[in-house]
Amino acid sequence: MLRMHDDGASVAFCKNKPKPDYDNGRRGAVMKKDIILPFMAVAILLSGCSKHNAEANYFSPGQFWYDDSGALINAHGGGILSYKNTYYWYGEYKSDTTSNAMTGVSCYSSQDLYTWHNEGIVLPVSDSPESDIQRGCILERPKVIFNESTGKFVMYFHLELKGQGYSAARVGIAVSETPTGPFTFIRSLRPNADILPLNMPSEAGLDKDESHYEGWSAEWVAAVRQGLFTWRDLHTGQMSRDMALYVDDDGKAYHIYASEENLTLQIAELTPDYLGYTGRYKRIQPAGHNEAPALFKKAGKYYMITSGCTGWAPNAARLLTADSLMGEWTLHENPCVGADADLTFHSQSTFVLPIEGKHNAFIFMADRWKPEKHTEGTYIWLPVQFGADGMPYLEWKDNWDLSVFK
Ligand code: GAL
Repeated sequence: MLRMHDDGASVAFCKNKPKPDYDNGRRGAVMKKDIILPFMAVAILLSGCSKHNAEANYFSPGQFWYDDSGALINAHGGGILSYKNTYYWYGEYKSDTTSNAMTGVSCYSSQDLYTWHNEGIVLPVSDSPESDIQRGCILERPKVIFNESTGKFVMYFHLELKGQGYSAARVGIAVSETPTGPFTFIRSLRPNADILPLNMPSEAGLDKDESHYEGWSAEWVAAVRQGLFTWRDLHTGQMSRDMALYVDDDGKAYHIYASEENLTLQIAELTPDYLGYTGRYKRIQPAGHNEAPALFKKAGKYYMITSGCTGWAPNAARLLTADSLMGEWTLHENPCVGADADLTFHSQSTFVLPIEGKHNAFIFMADRWKPEKHTEGTYIWLPVQFGADGMPYLEWKDNWDLSVFK
């Protein structure tokens, strides 16, 4: 059952209300109905339940979205894996008072994308101080892909070690035999230590001493473009924060992550088992300040929607395109149109979902963060539309369903 409400207070009412039995044909029941109905109508209006039919098959971006047990879906910064006629939505299980990971990665399953069933916590944080994913660490934007050759489900996520703020900038890797876990944490790392990117510019004339620059000066931006931070982090491995995974048609997988102090995206090829890196990687939009990457492919062309870097506050999305994943990425205008386009409709990209069984049908998924109470952050799902020039665009819809895709 899809349950979306715009008022958290209405949850308990909607959830606990017993289903009335009006259809038993007995006179007593009809009389009871006459008395109860007006009260019910008022109660429903007050509770906000009227806003969305609990059984409705449609999306209401930005409204509270409830799973089939009536609880708010808690899967932020998420991504979806489609496997054997079921969609699995993985995300950050947020707490009310902190954005640190107190629980782990959640998973919900659905056959129709409207109704979601809670599959529980598929990667729990650990209570061991020895663990990289100790409770209280920062564990964000988990994404899961399926490896056809090993038959395993592989999860990557952005990891910040407990007590270190956002300074660790690592990627965590976990693996499972089934889509619903349990996932076993394997390790965390910074990708591609001691390897330079394939498209690294010449170091000629580059002053590699960070302290010689004033942040955001023209010289500093030029040095960042030339690889100031790529060189700085060469031996530790490249910084890895907001991220996406992408499996291409040939089965090769890629990790795309905000690196170099969130100034430059990097795309790194993964090994055939998806559990590590081949060492082939490229820089995308050096000093372009992109994060929250979400990729999709249409008619042989690759598209990536990203955001700028303003923390939990929304900003204008960006669009990049390329003819090959490891090729040249070109930056385009904000793909959002209409009111609040400059704030991505008050949200930040997390994933683009290709819909099974439909041609060129994609859902843009984003988070409307709520740092005052993270559990009440909402999900913005919008259909990706394509203009006459073939370019994708996103337009706000209060309610919509899959029939928008022909
Ligand atoms: C955003 C990022 C989120 C989270 C947040 C913390 O820029 O996309 O995933 O890390 O910053 O402020």
